[in-house]
Amino acid sequence: MGYGCSWNLAERKGSMGQLVAGKKALILGVANKRSIAWGIAQALHREGASLWFNYQNERVKDYVAELVAGLGGDIPLTECDVMKPEQVDALFEAVAARWGSLDILVHSLAFAPREALEGEFYTTTLEQWNTALAISAYSLVLCARQAKPLMEKAGGGSIITLTYLGSERAVKSYNVMGVAKAALEASVRYLAADLGPANIRVNAISAGPVKTLAAKGVSGFSSILKVVEEKAPLRRNVTQAEIGNTGLFLASDLASGITGEVIFVDCGYHIVGV
Ligand SMILES: NC(=O)c1ccc[n+]([C@@H]2O[C@H](COP(=O)([O-])OP(=O)(O)OC[C@H]3O[C@@H](n4cnc5c(N)ncnc54)[C@H](O)[C@@H]3O)[C@@H](O)[C@H]2O)c1
Repeated sequence: MGYGCSWNLAERKGSMGQLVAGKKALILGVANKRSIAWGIAQALHREGASLWFNYQNERVKDYVAELVAGLGGDIPLTECDVMKPEQVDALFEAVAARWGSLDILVHSLAFAPREALEGEFYTTTLEQWNTALAISAYSLVLCARQAKPLMEKAGGGSIITLTYLGSERAVKSYNVMGVAKAALEASVRYLAADLGPANIRVNAISAGPVKTLAAKGVSGFSSILKVVEEKAPLRRNVTQAEIGNTGLFLASDLASGITGEVIFVDCGYHIVGV
């Protein structure tokens, strides 16, 4: 193939706006309109993907149902708490029954007990550690395992998860979640190595801080937003839409050569030294 021939802009014009047309995407982690998963879902929807959402429990069901209804059409919405294996099984069985295959999996969820996200890291209990690592890192492995046969039926796929700089730097109060994100990023690489032969790509977006429900759980979160605004090369915080567009890119065939990667979408904050 000639270098860049299929990316000729003139050739692409006809398909602009339909980067993921015909692809089927399962989106895990929408809680409300501020959720990063919602930003990715909107970008995928705009570019022609069919969507399927989960909601964690009854508490968030109505918010998610209202958002999804706003997209129009018949979009499935299934309860799934990743700590309940029977719900994970049921979700993927439902996807298999209705769609038969899957192209895109967005894993945008994490949790650590609030008390573990303040004060000093060395006070983390085993229970807090296990909870954070199970929900925030192991769930990616579990979902990737469930997605594999469905993505094989599609001839390949793209799995995208969300991480944060706290995996490689000591960020005040992020504590055990930093350890969970380090495990998540290592899992991305191992999963990419395992699933690559099946043409399944696995990548993480390392997002800058965004004011979401999960972020509010981190003590002193507003001061993190302020520091990024002052120090990031772009002198501002990243938007939900910018993270959404990176999710879209990773999900699309434009990223067909990228796997096992952590892509920073943080207005450049992570490159700054003193
Ligand atoms: N907001 C930020 O500043 C930021 C920055 C970098 C990375 N992230 C990551 O982005 C992802 C999405 O978080 P967000 O900021 O959009 O917040 P959010 O609160 O909108 O989303 C978190 C989601 O995790 C889900 N969740 C938690 N425990 C679950 C469980 N047991 N089973 C199923 N779902 C569960 C919640 O229901 C919620 O939908 C997380 O992995 C988070 O760590 C966030």
